[in-house]
Amino acid sequence: MKKVFKLLTMGFVAIMLVFVLAACNSSSSGKGGAISVGIVLPTKDEPRWVQDEERFKAELDDSEYTTEILFSQGSSAKEKENVETLISKGIEVLIIAPHDGAAAGATVEAAKKEGITVIAYDRLITDTDAVDYYVTFDSVAVGEAQGQYLIDNASGSGVPLYLYTGAASDNNAFLFFEGAWNVLQPKIADGTFVIANSSEAEALKDKPELTRDEMNAILSQVTTNWDPSESKNKAETHLTAVSDDLKGDVAILAPNDGTSRAIADVFSTESAITSFVITGQDAEKASIQYIIDGKQTMTVFKDVRTLVKDAMGMAIEVLEGNTPETTGSYNNGAVDVKAKQTDVIVVNKENVESELIESSYYEADEFTGLE
Ligand code: BGC
Repeated sequence: MKKVFKLLTMGFVAIMLVFVLAACNSSSSGKGGAISVGIVLPTKDEPRWVQDEERFKAELDDSEYTTEILFSQGSSAKEKENVETLISKGIEVLIIAPHDGAAAGATVEAAKKEGITVIAYDRLITDTDAVDYYVTFDSVAVGEAQGQYLIDNASGSGVPLYLYTGAASDNNAFLFFEGAWNVLQPKIADGTFVIANSSEAEALKDKPELTRDEMNAILSQVTTNWDPSESKNKAETHLTAVSDDLKGDVAILAPNDGTSRAIADVFSTESAITSFVITGQDAEKASIQYIIDGKQTMTVFKDVRTLVKDAMGMAIEVLEGNTPETTGSYNNGAVDVKAKQTDVIVVNKENVESELIESSYYEADEFTGLE
């Protein structure tokens, strides 16, 4: 009897724990009843996505529609579970930034079967016809802006170029690299830059357009997997491996802010590096402080308020029985997905105040050392 009670108690505690954990990883807003729009974001561990959650909450504050936001914590299995939970709550529209663009295919197919409209958010879901819309930034332009910044700030020729990319499971990693390669390749071919850390990229330096397989080969050498500690380890390994003629004044293509700060921290402690220009993306608060402090050179600002507005605007059109407006399309390997795309802005020390503070994206008192 005692044992049964103990088991029951343990069961109760376990159930409560599940509820508490579920509550920690989700947030709902709106006016009670069933959930109309489910939002699934890839991870709470990167400020970029916490930013999206905050901006969604601000946008949804006085919405008449009920929404719930769930995080997948870098796991496709958790993502699938999240979508199933939202399906059981009766959602009509799913807004999802997948952890892994290909693995999410089966998950959204399950939603589609229930008549749910699927909107891919920031990251495309690939190789499935179960995606109705795609709301995104111009990701090729992100990479082009990063590459162009390195070109504009390089002096002379033979500048060592360190390449880093995002995770191969994220379609955006290819778009960012494609954009960077578009502008950097001619400058690698003409000797302005010398690739320091990728024999695969070096072997392809005369090719203006790379296939997905060729990009995959480069990614396999220089991916950060969007992980700051992997970025740090790779940067350390690269600096140990190269000779001093690949040090001095260097250029670093870092795919986003989290990886940029980690790589910058490594390069700034290497005595044979005299200066470096390093890119970033997302305008994360920590990187804005790095830029003010001269520790990161630039970031690509993607105004998440616009993306959130576009995604929710689309969802509401669908709920009201209308066809959302789109501005183009992206082929996801199976179909052309109708897309709405937003421009991006390059931010460095010179324009950080006008772009981020004056636009009320951040408050000045969130930073130190602003002039
Ligand atoms: C997003 C970036 C983000 C990266 C890592 C990409 O898909 O577009 O903004 O930094 O994922 O989470």
